[in-house]
Amino acid sequence: MSLKERLVETTQFIQAQGVQEVDFGLILGSGLGELADEITDRVVIPYETIPHFPASTVVGHAGQLVYGTLSGKKVLAMQGRFHYYEGHSMQTVTFPVRVMKALGANSMVVTNAAGGVNTSFSPGDLMLITDQINYTGDNPLMGLNEDELGPRFPDMSEPYDRAYGEVAKSVAKELKITLQKGVYMGFSGPTYETPAEIRMSRLMGADAVGMSTVPEVIVANHMSMRVLGVTCVTNLAAGMQANLNHEEVVETTERVKADFKELIKLTLERI
Ligand code: HPA
Repeated sequence: MSLKERLVETTQFIQAQGVQEVDFGLILGSGLGELADEITDRVVIPYETIPHFPASTVVGHAGQLVYGTLSGKKVLAMQGRFHYYEGHSMQTVTFPVRVMKALGANSMVVTNAAGGVNTSFSPGDLMLITDQINYTGDNPLMGLNEDELGPRFPDMSEPYDRAYGEVAKSVAKELKITLQKGVYMGFSGPTYETPAEIRMSRLMGADAVGMSTVPEVIVANHMSMRVLGVTCVTNLAAGMQANLNHEEVVETTERVKADFKELIKLTLERI
């Protein structure tokens, strides 16, 4: 079945559950899914019921779509995302972004947990993503291009919308939340990086490293969606602190999720 045929089936199924127009797609990363609990007039759709969606397997990811109103906007939130390291193809990982766009979303807010590479960052900092480096070795747009969805060779000159970023910065200032800014470098995972890889990533211009986001943002750009990206720096990257573990990532997101939610909600209200 072609991508377009799958999109039609999935979109029709989601609309039949009561999802109407969508302004913003939201992708909520590890430990950050609670924001979806604040969505009102809700329609909740577990991933396993949605045609052409795989089931999410990661701890800390609920695995459902939540539709409704947040900050006066009609949003469709992914509580939990699909990762390349789970063994899904990049096309599968990014299929929900295609669905968001098909439902009418011209903008996307993408969030993640990541390791801090920039030596001035501290665990618990939030970071506005200004640009990204695709270091996964793959690309979700490989293969035949669907010209109706976007061009064969998409422009990636402004992968993250500058105007959205400015709004987020002013909101952070107003809320007295530290908001770093920087470049997110996407690895395939699931291993955390080695200290040598982190030194390399810093030389290449990365400020944070993670295992998600890059494919979704490529596909959003393919379809000319405007993107706001916010990272929660959950730990200092390998070689910059003692051993890394997933528990620390979860603990840090727990600690900063209140700030994270306020930042996203007020930014969403103003963009
Ligand atoms: N590296 C990659 N992904 C991550 C990290 C990290 O240090 N922390 C949270 N997600």
